[in-house]
Amino acid sequence: MLKIFQTRTIIFLLFTMATLALKSQTPTNSGISPADKSKIDNLLKTMTLDEKIGQLSLFTSDWDVTGPTLNSNYKNLIKEGKVGAIFNAYTVDYVRELQKLAVEESRLKIPLIFGYDVIHGHRTIFPIPLASACSWNLAAIEQSERIAACEASAEGINWTFAPMVDIARDPRWGRVAEGAGEDTWLGCRIAEARVKGFQGLNLKDNNTILACAKHFAAYGAAQSGRDYHTVDISQLSLYEWYLPPYKACIDAGVGSVMTSFNEIAGIPSTSNKWLLTDLVRKDWGFKGFVVTDYTSINELVNHGVARDNKDAAMLSLNAGVDMDMQGSTFLDYLSDLLKEKKVTIEAIDNAVRVILEAKAKLGLFEDPYRYCNKERQEKEIMATENLAFARKLVSESCVLLKNDKQTLPIPADVKTIAVIGPLGDSKKDMLGNWSAAGQWEKCVTLVEGLKNKLKGKVEIIFEQGCNANDENRSGFAAAVKLAEKADFVILALGENGWMSGEASSRSSIDLPGVQNELTAEIMKTGKPVAVVLFNGRPLAITKLHSLAPAILETWFGGTEAGNGIADVLMGDVNPSGKLTMTFPQNLGQIPIFYNAKNTGRPYRTTDPNAKYVSRYLDVSNDPLFPFGYGLSYTKFSYSGLETKVDGNKIQITIKVANTGIRDGEEVVQLYIQDKVGSITRPVKELKGFQKVLIKKGETKTLVFNLTLDDLAFYHPDLKKFWEPGEFVVYVGTNSAETISKTIKVL
Ligand code: GLC
Repeated sequence: MLKIFQTRTIIFLLFTMATLALKSQTPTNSGISPADKSKIDNLLKTMTLDEKIGQLSLFTSDWDVTGPTLNSNYKNLIKEGKVGAIFNAYTVDYVRELQKLAVEESRLKIPLIFGYDVIHGHRTIFPIPLASACSWNLAAIEQSERIAACEASAEGINWTFAPMVDIARDPRWGRVAEGAGEDTWLGCRIAEARVKGFQGLNLKDNNTILACAKHFAAYGAAQSGRDYHTVDISQLSLYEWYLPPYKACIDAGVGSVMTSFNEIAGIPSTSNKWLLTDLVRKDWGFKGFVVTDYTSINELVNHGVARDNKDAAMLSLNAGVDMDMQGSTFLDYLSDLLKEKKVTIEAIDNAVRVILEAKAKLGLFEDPYRYCNKERQEKEIMATENLAFARKLVSESCVLLKNDKQTLPIPADVKTIAVIGPLGDSKKDMLGNWSAAGQWEKCVTLVEGLKNKLKGKVEIIFEQGCNANDENRSGFAAAVKLAEKADFVILALGENGWMSGEASSRSSIDLPGVQNELTAEIMKTGKPVAVVLFNGRPLAITKLHSLAPAILETWFGGTEAGNGIADVLMGDVNPSGKLTMTFPQNLGQIPIFYNAKNTGRPYRTTDPNAKYVSRYLDVSNDPLFPFGYGLSYTKFSYSGLETKVDGNKIQITIKVANTGIRDGEEVVQLYIQDKVGSITRPVKELKGFQKVLIKKGETKTLVFNLTLDDLAFYHPDLKKFWEPGEFVVYVGTNSAETISKTIKVL
């Protein structure tokens, strides 16, 4: 057992080291070679208007449905040279079949790009992005996308609609599952890692794929957490909190950007010229192409800014959209719009050019079938080392939320473990949302993971007890009976996988159904109980928190979910995850996030009964679990915070000791507060972290180096600079538990 575990750890470390080595080299994706440029120039001279417009059209195949409309005519359109790219199609055979139509039957034989939502793995499905973000392991996150790119490209895909980098502070929004949580600085670091993982060092390598920064922009700020809803925020908030991760993708060389469904202050992103041309191209220097989201051009009519689809096509092209996803509006109307001088041939040519450049970068002109390699498909899909890596990432994405009386890890001498709950043996739910080509049949459930690990030593028994999301209590009696037979009870609770993701907002973020009641019944048995939580968003689990002595957050772990969770539950892995999104005590606190403003009447715990302060009558201002929170099976203590300001450099030193009973990894977090600014500043802002292994009894001294630029912020005139004055430096194990020191920066 130990040997296998050691092997898995070695594989994980080798993958991570390989990623770190890659990071030291610079990607060569930025430019187009002179040969490719002249090829594109010549093509543009020979293309008819219809062929040009064809390159601007992206259609879904009928292999997967990811939006409200479908069309069955895409194969004929490909033959007629009216399609630039296809999405939701994969496997070598199918991609080869469709590519053949383009390169052998169309006049100019321009190859297709093949896109897909490879959001957290292709066939080997990793934990949902919000989960892997909680690992705070950037190398592992990058490596997971590297593996995803290898598997996807082995099945013909060369473009992923990822990473989703929308900052979100409202867990009612189901798509928080796809992102990195509430913090902009961390969101940027994770965005960079994901783009580098997908695109590698050279897009011409047949195991790298074009990435896509989405959803541009500020989709996560939808009012009331309702998907597709209005976004109405200040320019200052847009620049300070929501735009940076998209820019981080562009600075990392992302090849495409996807427009968001939402409007921003009255202008839908898909027709927002300031966003798609002035900002992303002129200010940020983006050289790739802009694709819309699914029929988001057509939806400009619903938004009320376009009279009809023709009007919508004109607005979008003139705003800077290059490719129409599934809307067929460019195909249907650009020719007439050009005749009516409502669009220009320059705008069309510019769009065609950046799309042809993407195809050149992918090496598709040299070999349109470079991603159609049967041997790779056989060898690389769900390779053993990919699954071993996935298992380690599952464990590293787990967040230990509560562990009274060291309930976890499960004692080694137990004889019978009862798993009770709707998520205990559910393969379908383990994938979470956006699992693309993932096969739920191949997922390892929690029951299976425990059996794999403990077979022959511990009996694992299971009762569902209730469903995740209804009022049926008929399974309670059998569940209680089963618990009474066991030495240890695991309650596998949470949401079904479909309850988060796109079009899955919830007006309540409570633990759904009757799961709290089931917990209460099981607690009455007096058995040792630990809750394993499966969810795609922060939940208001205040009631569960009052009932259960131990809670392990596992999100949706994907293919290796059960194995990775079992490694944590049995203590082979010491949990190190930290929340990247605040868990509120209740719905009414939303939006609640750590980097909030102090207000003019801040609530102070020193005067808990003060009336005229910013607070609620019925709940404290504290979240249930703050940003950056996560426990360990060991204990860490912080001391010796030192700071040194030298010119434009700020050096912070901290000692972290492992005072507990076993080795463990700790995410040491560095926050800054600008005490006085020309505008109000957050009470804390994450500016750095280090994830370090500290052995039992060991003390490590960590050094953080900042520059004055790290203190800069956007001003009302949208200029970004720092201001001299007093800053508080906070270092700690989460955003609420820190030690601090004040520094002066002149
Ligand atoms: C969906 C999603 C987007 C996805 C696209 C293609 O509507 O909003 O994230 O990439 O359509 O499936």
